[in-house]
Amino acid sequence: MAKPVTKKISARKPAAKTSAKKPAAKKKAVKKPAKRDMSYYFTVKDSVKVVQSRSGKRADKRTKFLVDTLVKHMHAFVKEARPTMDEWMYGINYLTRVGHMCNDWRQEFILLSDVLGISMLVETLNHEKMSGETESTVLGPFYIPDAPAYENGANICLDGKGEPVWVQGRVLNAKGKPIAGAKIEVWQANEDGFYDVQQKGIQPDMNLRGVFTADKDGHYSFRSAYPRHYPIPHDGPVGDMLTALDRNPNRPAHLHFMVSAPGYEKLITHIFTPDCPWLKDDAVFGVKESLIADFTTVNDAKRAEGIGLPNPFRMVEWNVVLSKP
Ligand code: BEZ
Ligand code: FE
Repeated sequence: MAKPVTKKISARKPAAKTSAKKPAAKKKAVKKPAKRDMSYYFTVKDSVKVVQSRSGKRADKRTKFLVDTLVKHMHAFVKEARPTMDEWMYGINYLTRVGHMCNDWRQEFILLSDVLGISMLVETLNHEKMSGETESTVLGPFYIPDAPAYENGANICLDGKGEPVWVQGRVLNAKGKPIAGAKIEVWQANEDGFYDVQQKGIQPDMNLRGVFTADKDGHYSFRSAYPRHYPIPHDGPVGDMLTALDRNPNRPAHLHFMVSAPGYEKLITHIFTPDCPWLKDDAVFGVKESLIADFTTVNDAKRAEGIGLPNPFRMVEWNVVLSKP
């Protein structure tokens, strides 16, 4: 059967009708492309503005301020330090390792903040003292909220190690009036440089920590061991960074205090021994001059017997002044 004749329509060859030569079109004036609004597109020059402008009308104001400020400084850091792609990836992996080292017993992110001086900066800016109140310093990772409560004068050194020390003082307000009933929580590392929580089964539980209550004149007292310096946990990524920077991991010898009373700001602080070789090289920058205490040696057999310490003994007198909120 003969095939029906069909007109072939070629996509390439236009039909005769359409291929007829058109009269030359009038030359249109070449329009310049409209200027684009470049604020949508990322440029090195405008990187901060571009990122900051993405948040919407309903953004939380404080969050926006914090994130915008972070972006501003992080972009400035990148522009100045110009990390390579490998260095950027190292940073991502490093922070991932820090995160993996965080659990109920270990907070590597806080430790990172501590060794970078961030914790001390935040802490100090938030607790600027006005008129003679006791200065604050870092909390550290070894505080436990449920340490045992003791009568004044009790001995918190349960492992019997170290040089005995008598600690006494008063809790006062800025006008020098006693704050009766103030709660004084104390904790410290032992003679070997470890907190009880770092040596479960080696040290007695709750070794070198306790809670005391100021009497009607604001007095508190207890027996402890002369503090020794110790290294912060440095077996993780923070330790690696300290090694790479040739920095020491040590904290100068100290005794932690957390003092609270209704109507007053809670005070988190330490006292430092005056003879520690690490005073000027604290791995977490926690030393403030006003927190270096005088530890004296007392040679008084009768007094030693009265407080239950061998003669001679070390003693420190430390008054704590709380501020109003
Ligand atoms: C501490 O004093 O217990 C401490 C503070 C910051 C980091 C590590 C330890
Ligand atoms: Fe400590």
